[in-house]
Amino acid sequence: MPRRNTFEMRTALVTGGAGFIGANFLNRSVPERPDVRFVNVDCLTYAANPASLEAVAGASNYLHECVDIADDDAVEDVFDRYTPDLIVHFAAESHVDRSIVRPRAFVRTNVEGTLNLLEACRRHWGSRRGLFHHVSTDEVYGALGQSGRFSETSRYDPSSPYSASKAASDHLVRAWGRTFGLRFRLTNCSNNYGPYQFPEKLVPLMILNALERKPMPVYGLGENVRDWLYVGDHCDAIWAVVERGRDGETYNVGGGAELSNLEVVHRICASVARRTGADETELRSLIRFVEDRPGHDFRYAVDSTKIRQECGWQPATSFDLALDATVQWYLEHADWVDGVRTGEYRRWIELKYGAAVAQGPE
Ligand code: NAD
Ligand code: TYD
Repeated sequence: MPRRNTFEMRTALVTGGAGFIGANFLNRSVPERPDVRFVNVDCLTYAANPASLEAVAGASNYLHECVDIADDDAVEDVFDRYTPDLIVHFAAESHVDRSIVRPRAFVRTNVEGTLNLLEACRRHWGSRRGLFHHVSTDEVYGALGQSGRFSETSRYDPSSPYSASKAASDHLVRAWGRTFGLRFRLTNCSNNYGPYQFPEKLVPLMILNALERKPMPVYGLGENVRDWLYVGDHCDAIWAVVERGRDGETYNVGGGAELSNLEVVHRICASVARRTGADETELRSLIRFVEDRPGHDFRYAVDSTKIRQECGWQPATSFDLALDATVQWYLEHADWVDGVRTGEYRRWIELKYGAAVAQGPE
């Protein structure tokens, strides 16, 4: 499919590039696009791990700026110094369970941080037109029943502080497009899994607990359904929209792999058994049904027709193969896992950036 880019892309500012999806995006994009300078703007919260970026840290077209996007002066300064042509905005507080316990940080980063980036674009771009790509979630649409799928025109109906803050950020991006002429594109993606995911989310938590023979906590009866997408397919989808999408448009991105949480955990047990020779029945016996998450959305499912038709994107991987690859990745990256589990990754950040950064904004 032909490219529809009408801006010259020299500097891409990637926010949240030390997190799960951002790191996958940079690990792939930095070597593949040597003509683009990638500036990773990430203040290294608990969810960030610089070890996820070891492969690109020394690349001549990669830089890291330890900047909090909720700090408007610091954002302004980054724009002054790099004059980016493309923003790919991943940075967010992203964990629903944390948002229920401490919602304020979600509004600060996801809403105020997005506002600061939009304002910086408005001030810096003027008539020179860069592109703002906003990375969002299908959770803004709320919960589905047994049938139906979210389309780009589905009504926003967020349930958690996380999804409400992402919904607010989506609205801000569209308003800056309509009111100030900002060039933007938006993707709302389903649940991702793959390498470098922090083990507070379902897939890595269950993989590691299965490997370590620890209890596997399934909320409620495990009947809630998510649409799972391999992180590499999500990164491809973002480039497909940046290069072949239309300005001012939203694209839903889904994996077409709808599974109940219990089914996901069963498949993880099967994969860990295949990869390690463990007994699958023994692994399943580690499953514990625990108290449900408040406001737990029953089902998400995404209609990706628009991105398929307009941008020529579709997921390249099947759930079981990509899950096997993910299990294998966690088996082969014990150092990364140990760093996260022991907190060693925070000590590394403290040495390089100081105690305040290592401690995080809250
Ligand atoms: P993550 O939590 O793994 O990483 C977030 C990154 O943002 C971290 O590196 C963190 O340090 C950084 N960050 C947080 N607050 C910041 C701030 N104030 N200033 C600068 N950097 C800050 O998140 P993820 O899972 O990689 O998600 C990335 C984006 O994709 C988010 O916007 C999320 O809403 C969206 N998304 C995620 C999924 C998923 O399944 N993980 C699905 C759809 C959409
Ligand atoms: P999660 O990975 O937190 O993503 P999200 O809440 O953004 O969908 O959770 C995925 C699903 O798995 C969700 O329905 C909640 C459920 N879940 C559990 O059952 N147990 C767990 O320990 C976790 C973290 C999640």
